[in-house]
Amino acid sequence: MERPHGSLPFDAARLADEFGTPCWLYRRSVIERRIAEVSCFDAVRFAQKACSNLAVLAVAKKAGAVVDAVSAGEVVRALRVGFDPKAPVPGVVYTADILDDAALDLIGRHGVPVNVGSADMLEQLAERGIRVPITVRVNPGFGHGHSSKVNTGGELSKHGVWHEQLPAVVARGRELGFDMCGLHMHIGSGSDFEHLSQVCAAMERAAADFGPGLRTISAGGGLPVSYRKGAEATPRIDVAAYYGLWDASRKRIESLVGHPVSLEVEPGRYLVAESGYLVTSIRAVKKQGKNVFYLLDAGFTDLVRPSFYGAYHHITVHGRDGSDLPGSQPVIVAGPLCESGDVFTQEEGGFVTTRDLPPAKTGDLLVLHDAGAYGAAMSSNYNSRPLAAEVLEDGGVFKEIRRRQTLEEIFRLERIPEL
Ligand SMILES: Cc1ncc(COP(=O)(O)O)c(C=O)c1O
Repeated sequence: MERPHGSLPFDAARLADEFGTPCWLYRRSVIERRIAEVSCFDAVRFAQKACSNLAVLAVAKKAGAVVDAVSAGEVVRALRVGFDPKAPVPGVVYTADILDDAALDLIGRHGVPVNVGSADMLEQLAERGIRVPITVRVNPGFGHGHSSKVNTGGELSKHGVWHEQLPAVVARGRELGFDMCGLHMHIGSGSDFEHLSQVCAAMERAAADFGPGLRTISAGGGLPVSYRKGAEATPRIDVAAYYGLWDASRKRIESLVGHPVSLEVEPGRYLVAESGYLVTSIRAVKKQGKNVFYLLDAGFTDLVRPSFYGAYHHITVHGRDGSDLPGSQPVIVAGPLCESGDVFTQEEGGFVTTRDLPPAKTGDLLVLHDAGAYGAAMSSNYNSRPLAAEVLEDGGVFKEIRRRQTLEEIFRLERIPEL
């Protein structure tokens, strides 16, 4: 029988009972809704780096999305889920800053199209005799974003082919015998439509430089979600307006090249962030001077975004039965790691802040919201802590999609040599 579960859209107590804490939960219906929202684009290419669990990829596939892959591992994930790299809209495209041997091997064997970020990638494919369709990721000479950790364009960004070198790279690709067929720009203007129109204009300039053969353009990802709630929430991105700008650009490009050009979008966080929760247990409650600390059984080994970017995640606190708790006090929420930066309530630059949360006791549940993107995917084994379980909520049913890692699995690759 379903128990009341307060303001959460799932039964956190049952989840904690069945799978322990910390535990990731993804809601299938949310992922499907987000994919449907951006399906005005000809292809929705899920940036799987945001959440690459095989089951999440399978949900995305059923909902009509295709994927990108930034490593050999992500190519294998895509193939395992059944994405066909040779389909008319390729099920998987390799889009990374470099090619290593493992990636080259897979791309060659499976004919995975490549989105190149440097001329060297073309040479390395050609050296191996690989001739797959090529799109070019362009750095238009400017970026967007509040820090170098998220800025994807401009002179200080490592990503993409510098815009002035695009004609030479395309010419070299043709000379080597590649089907040079597309352009890609991932700048992440978010909801800044004035900035986005500059990106669209840069895409049109790139299309003019590209010359014949252009069949596809990709708008990249970067569609934002509001991590803050209530009065502080940022309005949802106007997807129709976002699409409208890109579609107008696509049409101008079509009249330039004289044939249809398909328009892709490549979101990560937009498709999965809001589907995901990190459910944790409060293991210690401490008072130090004016400050109250809740110490959790999850740390930046699970969710690194607050420590890495000063990212904000909405937090709710619940009794062990999942009920909402009353009251409010300023709290510092931190994890179990031997690192002072292991704090969930911090701003960029590492400044520790407080969050107004209900008074709680050990054993209560604390839930970090909007954790579906760059959450489990960025987890690590630092401090020899096992990766948490991942669970998919599918029509009210919890389905384990990754069991908790065992300690033995952490040590398995290690050997003590003769000493
Ligand atoms: C090439 C590329 N495409 C898409 C994305 C997805 O970005 P977001 O999750 O902000 O939509 C990224 C993120 O790093 C990226 O590097």
